[in-house]
Amino acid sequence: MIIAIDGPAAAGKGTLARALADRLNLAYLDTGLLYRATGHAVLRAGGDPADPVTAEAAARALSPADLDDPDLRTEAAAAAASAVAALPAVRAALLDVQRAFAARPPAGRDGVVLDGRDIGTVVCPEADHKLFITATLETRARRRFLELRDKGVDAIESSVLHDMVDRDARDSSRRVAPLVPAADAFVLDTSDLSVHDALAAALAYVRKRQERSGSTPAGTD
Ligand code: CDP
Ligand code: CDP
Repeated sequence: MIIAIDGPAAAGKGTLARALADRLNLAYLDTGLLYRATGHAVLRAGGDPADPVTAEAAARALSPADLDDPDLRTEAAAAAASAVAALPAVRAALLDVQRAFAARPPAGRDGVVLDGRDIGTVVCPEADHKLFITATLETRARRRFLELRDKGVDAIESSVLHDMVDRDARDSSRRVAPLVPAADAFVLDTSDLSVHDALAAALAYVRKRQERSGSTPAGTD
């Protein structure tokens, strides 16, 4: 089983993807980390994340250990991620990694869930289930602000919101793999949903589709 989850920043993609992976025995890939690690590597080397040659080299040199760096969660890494993510050569370099993960789930897992911006449209257009997770800008900025505050980061909510507007605009307007819902995605607005209720809605969607297609409902053994 392949589940594709896309949507803008802080919509609740990762929280939902992890919960679905847990409930349905799937392996999870946070594809945003690949772009964050690429952007971060360029910044650390003193390079410009918008430079295609430098950024592609960084994407091709990524190793699994690079994805564990706590600095990838910073807003600076997010902005650098969004800059490298607009470059076709970087997207092409990271596409193989993501498709390989989707094609071969680790032993013992019943499939995969990937979250990002272009999973349902580009990385896994053949995914069994596609969710586009969204929420109002204010809700998303508040969530990210609270996350930063909980981590002890001295953030200003209006700046978090402003950075998010910039990043969403860049992700949605780029020419390659822009942030758009796949035509066949289930759009879920989590603005007024708890984490628990968002999971329930996503599971209901997956199970309904499985019943329709005649397969065994997931996570009900
Ligand atoms: O992966 P993405 O950036 O889309 O968002 P996330 O990291 O899953 O969620 C951002 C924050 O919003 C986390 O702190 C979640 O706990 C919170 N959240 C929420 O309050 N309500 C939801 N329905 C989903 C997420
Ligand atoms: O957690 P949050 O939703 O804020 O960001 P993320 O999922 O870690 O993604 C960081 C950035 O990477 C995004 O703003 C996009 O520019 C880029 N990205 C992408 O272009 N395609 C993906 N499949 C995943 C991330």
